Amino acid sequence: VNGKVQIPVVVNVLYKTAAENISDAQIQSQIDVLNKDFNALNSDYNSVPALFAGVKANVGISFVLDKINRKSTTKTSWGTNDAMKKTAQGGLNPTTPTTKLNLWACKIGGGILGYAQFPGGSSATDGVVIDTKYFGLSGSGSAPYNLGRTGTHEVGHWMNLRHIWGDANCGSDLVSDTPTHNTANYGVPAYPHLSTCSGTPVEMTMNYMDYTDDAGMYMFSTGQKNRMAAIFVTGGPRAAFGI
Ligand code: ARG
Ligand code: ZN
Ligand code: CA
Repeated sequence: VNGKVQIPVVVNVLYKTAAENISDAQIQSQIDVLNKDFNALNSDYNSVPALFAGVKANVGISFVLDKINRKSTTKTSWGTNDAMKKTAQGGLNPTTPTTKLNLWACKIGGGILGYAQFPGGSSATDGVVIDTKYFGLSGSGSAPYNLGRTGTHEVGHWMNLRHIWGDANCGSDLVSDTPTHNTANYGVPAYPHLSTCSGTPVEMTMNYMDYTDDAGMYMFSTGQKNRMAAIFVTGGPRAAFGI
């Protein structure tokens, strides 16, 4: 993982309406956001508070658009049962998922912005689903989730990151340099937001793996970077990517 190797990205667009058939430019804008956020090139990176300056990280993984697949559908929403990933169910099978990151842009429904498969799962369903309205920058993007950070958050999961609150009250994200959070944070919390968990640390609400607005998240930590890098090494669940 050195920032020079690029992950090929296949984008699968499923649309019922013309608006859901997002443009090539809209798709590229999501790739651009991923490249910024995973390489500490995001313009808000320098907004990270001094308290976390020592652990904020340049992950050093890049993404390149490999292919766009488009398919019209009669479905108004897809839910979260992976039907969009199956040609036989009206969706689109992933393209060579062991060596390419597959994204699906479709209407999910139920207020879900996106969801991802962690490393180690079935390759037939591997990849990240992002609701059309939150895919990339503005355009059809919907505030306060219109800065492409749903993609950043979900690709974080795809690279083995857990939610920063560990999906439990004062739970663990299995990363030691991120503070313990009480629970998910929303909106753009005022800094400092104190946890009531053991040690009452200041919460890292600006981490991509919290649930804040897109404008409120702008860093990964070194521990998260190391956890992501570990999946790509020989013997790791995504070693085939060869980064
Ligand atoms: N899995 C989360 C959801 O569907 C995504 C949260 C993304 N957060 C964001 N600011 N874009 O709710
Ligand atoms: Zn999540
Ligand atoms: Ca932690």
